[in-house]
Amino acid sequence: MASLPGGTWTLGDLTVTRFGYGAMQLAGPWVMGPPADHDGALAVLREAVSLGITHIDTSNAYGPEVTNLLIREALHPYPESLHIVTKVGATRDDKGGWPPARDPESLRRSVHENLENLGLERLDLVNLRLGNAQGPQPEPLAKPFETLLELQQQGLIRHLGVSNVTEEQVAEAQSLGTIVCVQNGYNLAHRQDDELIDRLAAEGIAYVPFFPLGGFSPLQSAALTKVSERLNATPIAVALAWLLRRSPNILLIPGTSSVAHLRENIAGAGLTLSEQDMAELNDIAPAGPSAG
Ligand SMILES: NC(=O)c1ccc[n+]([C@@H]2O[C@H](COP(=O)([O-])OP(=O)(O)OC[C@H]3O[C@@H](n4cnc5c(N)ncnc54)[C@H](OP(=O)(O)O)[C@@H]3O)[C@@H](O)[C@H]2O)c1
Repeated sequence: MASLPGGTWTLGDLTVTRFGYGAMQLAGPWVMGPPADHDGALAVLREAVSLGITHIDTSNAYGPEVTNLLIREALHPYPESLHIVTKVGATRDDKGGWPPARDPESLRRSVHENLENLGLERLDLVNLRLGNAQGPQPEPLAKPFETLLELQQQGLIRHLGVSNVTEEQVAEAQSLGTIVCVQNGYNLAHRQDDELIDRLAAEGIAYVPFFPLGGFSPLQSAALTKVSERLNATPIAVALAWLLRRSPNILLIPGTSSVAHLRENIAGAGLTLSEQDMAELNDIAPAGPSAG
C-alpha cells in the first residue's frame, strides 16, 4: 500500500487509509444526475485507488444511483484492499430533496440497491444517516438501527456506523450494537463535535467529517489565509492537515471531481503544522469543551 498522509486506521477488522475519498459530488450539480464529464469521473476514482486510497465514501442517494454505478464501472472487480462505505436513511425526490427513508422496508430496499449497483455480495460498512440538511435532529434511532442490525446478522453488512447524529443518538446506537464510525459535518470552522471526537478516539471509533472543505460553501477565514500564506500552502491543504492532526481517529473523505485536485489534496494533507499554526487555526471557531 502506498504511504498516504495520516497512515491507516482500522474500522472493525478493515484497514483503511486515513486519507479517503468522498464520491458524492461526482453525481453532477445538486448531486442529481450524470457528471458533466463521465470519463473524468471514472479517471478520478481510478486515480484515487492507484494513489493508494482504500476508503471511498458513497450512497445510493447520490445521483440517485449515479455515483455507485460510476464506482462500479471504474473499479469493479475491486481490489481486496478497497473498502466502500455507503449510507442509508434518505432517498431523493424529483426536486433534488433528501426525504427520509428510514422505515424497515425502505432500509432493506436501500441496502439491496447498494449491493446491486456496487456489484457486491456484502457491504463493508453502512452508515445509518439521520437528521436533515440542517444537521442532526432529535429523532428515535432504535427502530431503523435494529433493521440494519438484522441485515448485518443476515450477512449483508459487515460493519455499521451512524451519520448526521447527536451524541445521544451515538450512545443509543452503541447500546444496541457495535459501531465503527460516526460521520458528521465538521471542519476547521464547525467544531460542534469536539467532545464527541475525543470520546470516540478513546473508544477506538473513527470520526469521519463530511464537508471537510466546507462542502458547497468553501471554507473561508482570515486566520486560515494567514497560516496558509505563511506556509506557502493552499487553505485546502491547511484545512486537511489540521483535521489529520486534530485527532488520530479522524478519517478524511474530501470530495473532488478533478484528478489534479485529488493529487493536490493528498500532497497538501501531508503538510506539517507547528504548535503556533495549530493555535491560530484552533482560534477560528469556538471549540467544544474538550477539544485537543
Ligand atoms: N453523511 C452525510 O450526510 C454527508 C453529507 C455530505 C457529504 N457527505 C460525504 O462527504 C464527502 C465530502 O463532502 P463534499 O465533497 O460535499 O465536500 P468537501 O469535501 O468539503 O468539498 C468538496 C468541494 O471542494 C472542492 N475541492 C476539492 N479539492 C479542491 C482543490 N484542491 N482545489 C479547489 N477546490 C477543491 C471540490 O471541487 P472540485 O470538484 O472542483 O475539486 C468540491 O466542490 C462527500 O463526497 C460525501 O461522500 C456525507
